[in-house]
Amino acid sequence: MIKKFPDSFLWGGATAANQYEGAYNVDGKGLATSDLLTAGTVDCPRRITKKVENNVNYPSHEAVDFYHRYKEDIALFAEMGFKTFRFSIAWSRIFPTGLEEKPNEEGLKFYDKVIAELKKYNIEPLVTISHYEPPYECTKEFNSWESRRMIDSYMRFATTIMERYKNDVRYWITFNEINALMRPIGAYLEAGMLVDDTGVFNNTEVDSRQLRFQALHHQFVASARVVELGKEINNKFQFGCMITYHCNYPYTCDPQDVFLAQQEDQMGNFYCSDVQVRGEYPYYAKRYWKDNNITINMEPEDLKIIKRGTVDFYSMSYYQPTTVSSKDEGLETVYGNIVGGIKNPYLEASEWGWEIDPLGLRYSLNNIYSRYQIPIMVVENGLGAKDEFINGTVQDDYRISYLNDHINAMWEAIQDGVDLIAFTSWGCIDLVSASTGEMEKRYGFIYVDKDNEGKGTLDRFRKKSFYWYQDVIKNNGL
Ligand code: BG6
Repeated sequence: MIKKFPDSFLWGGATAANQYEGAYNVDGKGLATSDLLTAGTVDCPRRITKKVENNVNYPSHEAVDFYHRYKEDIALFAEMGFKTFRFSIAWSRIFPTGLEEKPNEEGLKFYDKVIAELKKYNIEPLVTISHYEPPYECTKEFNSWESRRMIDSYMRFATTIMERYKNDVRYWITFNEINALMRPIGAYLEAGMLVDDTGVFNNTEVDSRQLRFQALHHQFVASARVVELGKEINNKFQFGCMITYHCNYPYTCDPQDVFLAQQEDQMGNFYCSDVQVRGEYPYYAKRYWKDNNITINMEPEDLKIIKRGTVDFYSMSYYQPTTVSSKDEGLETVYGNIVGGIKNPYLEASEWGWEIDPLGLRYSLNNIYSRYQIPIMVVENGLGAKDEFINGTVQDDYRISYLNDHINAMWEAIQDGVDLIAFTSWGCIDLVSASTGEMEKRYGFIYVDKDNEGKGTLDRFRKKSFYWYQDVIKNNGL
């Protein structure tokens, strides 16, 4: 059977400014929190420094230099047939400290050029307003999203770009993986908050829950205000939440495990999207706050704002499931994208230990759609792998096989009745890994000559998967 996707299906790729653009201090750009994250590995966590230190490798500083190579890259995306391209606008390029009243015109000019280039090839821009890169000055001033002041800073930024691109951009994502903030790693990564002085990026020792849930509340209000204002700027704008989604499997059919999986689902997956899609805190939130001594400070209008500013579509990243057990002693654990769990004996894993589960994607899409019944975009999925670059290319059959299986799962979900409208493969061109800061954890269809030490020509090469994806898009399916 020929598995065609709907004619309007948006095929494409996804990136984020801090992992892709480089030029971290060019044309007036200020420091982002991501610019103070050193390189790491899977065994050696990235460090957070308080200033740029000499002789330290900060992968975001050059990344893969989209800033100067956007024309070449967009031409390659067009050659693959992209219908859409997801990228973020670096907040500190537009508001270098996040505290200014007026934007940095030089920063805006860069995105003018990127968007014009996309339009030239009829590629629909899909813009993430905040993707792991708040301005560092806000962290210094008031610990970023811990403070309500961040809402105003975010509003100035979002209003500026929505006004500027009101005729060019239709799809907006307010926060990348907002629910990353449910986990300690999200405090600095997603929200730019320092919770201790150790400088260890993924510090799970500190219980920052109160801080993180308060920060999330500020982000919910900010997201809703942007949606409301955006619709006034252009009523055709479409806004999405963006969730790092993990389908939760009980390790056994012990009711304790099944119940635990349900709780993980509620808090891990749905807490944020329930707020952003339905416009109110879910019924289970209150008990969770109480049991965990969380007090959310709200202003009188907050809940009304949240109610008015609900999103139009649901977007998600999907990499791997999480398996949970109520009796986890002695069981082998795995750590994946933001979340860890028990090793699932039925699944294989990537070289970085991320379990591979295409059926889980179909299961997740059905789960999400049955809850919300609004259009869904899978805006991140892909395989981070070590590539062997031989004779100017990479024979990445493993990546093709991974994506093939996930695209198949999406097709099945559409047959199930899910309104899936877009797929943007993560890291469509090799870029810096968010979790480890490595270059050699590659996701791309396009190989970039750069290694973990930051050495290389930055030249671009088409991998085997480049031609495969081109074919998928050309045939609108498999
Ligand atoms: C998601 C993020 O968590 O996963 C991306 O939105 C990130 O920014 C992607 O790059 C893959 O994770 P990693 O750690 O392999 O880069």
